[in-house]
Amino acid sequence: MKISFLLNGETRNVSVTDPTQSVLDWLRAEGLRGTKEGCNEGDCGACTVMLSDAQGSRAVNACILMLPQIAGKALRTVEGIAAPDGTLHPVQQAMVDHHGSQCGFCTPGFVVSMATAHLNGRRDHDDLLAGNLCRCTGYAPIIRAAEAAETAPVPDWMQTDRTFSLAEISSGVRGQTAPAYLPGSTDDLAQWYLAHPEATLIAGGTDVGLWVTKQLRTLPQVAFLSHCKDLSDISEMEDGFRIGAGITIAAMREAMAQPHPAFADLLRRFASEQVRQAATIGGNIANGSPIGDTPPALIAMGARLILRRGDARREIEIEDFFLTYGKQDRAPGEFVEAVWLPKSAPDLACYKLSKRFDQDISAVCGCFNITRNGSKIETARVAFGGMAGTPKRAVAFEAALIGRPFSEATFTAALPALAQDFTPLSDMRASAAYRLEAAQNMALRYLREASGEAISVLEVAP
Ligand SMILES: Cc1cc2nc3c(=O)[nH]c(=O)nc-3n(C[C@H](O)[C@H](O)[C@H](O)COP(=O)(O)OP(=O)(O)OC[C@H]3O[C@@H](n4cnc5c(N)ncnc54)[C@H](O)[C@@H]3O)c2cc1C
Ligand code: FES
Ligand code: FES
Repeated sequence: MKISFLLNGETRNVSVTDPTQSVLDWLRAEGLRGTKEGCNEGDCGACTVMLSDAQGSRAVNACILMLPQIAGKALRTVEGIAAPDGTLHPVQQAMVDHHGSQCGFCTPGFVVSMATAHLNGRRDHDDLLAGNLCRCTGYAPIIRAAEAAETAPVPDWMQTDRTFSLAEISSGVRGQTAPAYLPGSTDDLAQWYLAHPEATLIAGGTDVGLWVTKQLRTLPQVAFLSHCKDLSDISEMEDGFRIGAGITIAAMREAMAQPHPAFADLLRRFASEQVRQAATIGGNIANGSPIGDTPPALIAMGARLILRRGDARREIEIEDFFLTYGKQDRAPGEFVEAVWLPKSAPDLACYKLSKRFDQDISAVCGCFNITRNGSKIETARVAFGGMAGTPKRAVAFEAALIGRPFSEATFTAALPALAQDFTPLSDMRASAAYRLEAAQNMALRYLREASGEAISVLEVAP
């Protein structure tokens, strides 16, 4: 497979021999060693690079980004942040002025994240830098540096990636044959996958990347979904939203801020900026993880899944997709094409419990969508992640609520039903008893919040 892309403003044509080679490994083999390898699993941000295309510029982790994913795009590494004549970028100068670096290992990653935020005019530094870990300087000087650079104009050399000619560098991005395929449309993907059902689909690669870097797996046949533009559409229909499976978590968070604010708030807790910019909603559902963050919220909202195999499509309730641990209702050659969501779910609340506020996987994620008719509970959709082998609805708990008053007495009487619904596991994130108690406490929190009571919990303000 041959791919072309812009690297720090210059066109590069590359023959890809291993389609799962990470951009980080490729960069370092090319002598661009400013981009560091820390964890090699998307956690530390030492490998942060800036990726631009027609959708804009974003910070992503190069260690779990595979070479074909950057075809036709513009990549900027820390070597391309200062001007060609060596003039520092305002964020670099501010890091010097505010003593934002000590050993310097994390600094290239921070600088790329900060330069991307600066380019995009973003000022939510705590949020944007939560995926960059520093072990010696401490974050206060780094945040001070980011703030100090806020009003400096974007340097000319940082503008070029936004205006690059996609046509100029898009030739040769398709590899029609096995072992790697880079389809340009969902139709092309559907036909190819039907003929190659054993292949591994790679969307954002934030799960699959770790199969390669941590499990050292060889993937004999892969298809990259990143260039199927029509897989990343959000359309507003009469009865709801159709969300393409290729939508990133970052784009989803932005799109959901108005119609589904509770869901958007949950997505702010999903991994880090770099991971959210690559990870897709389709990947989060298709991987079938019992601790994925979006499925409990989608189940509570009553979302439906649109699955496609060749030209055939079927639509199912999302909760029916998750059969047992590691097994989903997906036929060979079938993929997740889209998710349907209702236009609004004003009673939805989502609670993610994890050891850290940022960049952590849920121990328990509880999502509640309980509607009332007067003082009575009319409908209840309650779903949890981290409580079973799949994301799962709390049917016994729901049944114990429906038709009864929306009151402390009803909820308290219904709580034991959660123990009928779930037999959680003990693992490194939480014990079974803790999980069950936490789920019950989430239900009480929902009751109190929905009743207008101010809840005091230790939470980091967004
Ligand atoms: C540092 C880090 C932090 C993370 N934190 C969180 C977190 O807080 N919450 C959370 O839920 N997850 C988290 N994750 C996990 C991961 O980011 C998500 O599961 C993500 O949504 C996966 O999406 P992707 O597009 O990257 O999937 P990929 O890695 O590309 O694919 C995942 C799986 O889905 C399949 N697949 C992808 N798209 C489709 C499709 N359209 N149809 C059929 N199959 C498909 C792939 O073949 C693969 O089996 C984290 C990951 C990392 C590395
Ligand atoms: S090396 Fe840690 S996120 Fe990439
Ligand atoms: S300066 Fe040493 S890890 Fe950040």
